Amino acid sequence: MPTYEKLREQPPVLIETVEEGLMPCDGGRDSWEFARKAKKGAKQIIAPRSDNQPLDAYFLQEEHHHAYGRPWFLGKYQMQFLKQRGLQPHHTVLDYGCGAGRLGVRVIQYLDPGHYYGLDIHRRSLEAFAEYEIPLWDLEEKRPRLLHDAESSIEYFGTQFDWIVDFYSSVHNRQTEQKEVFRKFSQFLKPGGRLLTAPKPRIEESILADQGWVLVHQEIQACPLLEGHGFSPENDWFEYRLLT
Ligand SMILES: C[S@@+](CC[C@H](N)C(=O)[O-])C[C@H]1O[C@@H](n2cnc3c(N)ncnc32)[C@H](O)[C@@H]1O
Repeated sequence: MPTYEKLREQPPVLIETVEEGLMPCDGGRDSWEFARKAKKGAKQIIAPRSDNQPLDAYFLQEEHHHAYGRPWFLGKYQMQFLKQRGLQPHHTVLDYGCGAGRLGVRVIQYLDPGHYYGLDIHRRSLEAFAEYEIPLWDLEEKRPRLLHDAESSIEYFGTQFDWIVDFYSSVHNRQTEQKEVFRKFSQFLKPGGRLLTAPKPRIEESILADQGWVLVHQEIQACPLLEGHGFSPENDWFEYRLLT
């Protein structure tokens, strides 16, 4: 854990947004609900913390480690799967619905600087990511980009990705919205890039095909150290490429 002195020397990690009228999250349990808290509007950049501020006591309780249905430990297996499928340090990754960085911290650590892009609708999760997890893992120098957005404005990053990871995120939206998100994914995946999603998209096969998606791999990943509890110890991954 870095000292506050060391934290002050680090470049700040910003939460960027393409929206205005953001409703502030003021802590407390309710703020973890995945409510839509933003509306469309002008561009603004928000620095989540000023340099001399100590850590928010709320994040020190690590409630964000319990906010996504299954334990924080799952990040170990998510990362294991990405590497197994071929993730390399020079690749660029969009972590769609990155939350507070359960997978993100591991991916950022592994990738070259400037290659990780996270997007989430939920501001408090991004704050936990930027203000707590990134300093905890000493990841400021890796220059991760974090976008707070409700409209899946992937174009905001101005780049294309080798990998898009959508782990139990787009599936939280209505079927028509998930379809639109996948259409956007198809625009921002590099040629030869891969979309890793879990669980199976709720989009009709014919629509996925129309968007150019080809299912190239499907795997139920076992998470042995998570067996024997009241949640699934498996991840149901689907890997797509775009028809060239
Ligand atoms: C079950 S959590 C998974 C978080 C992360 N992928 C992980 O595995 O730790 C789902 C995440 O998707 C985000 N999410 C849901 N709908 C979204 C949307 N339309 N745009 C961006 N993020 C969204 C939620 O805020 C939440 O952080």
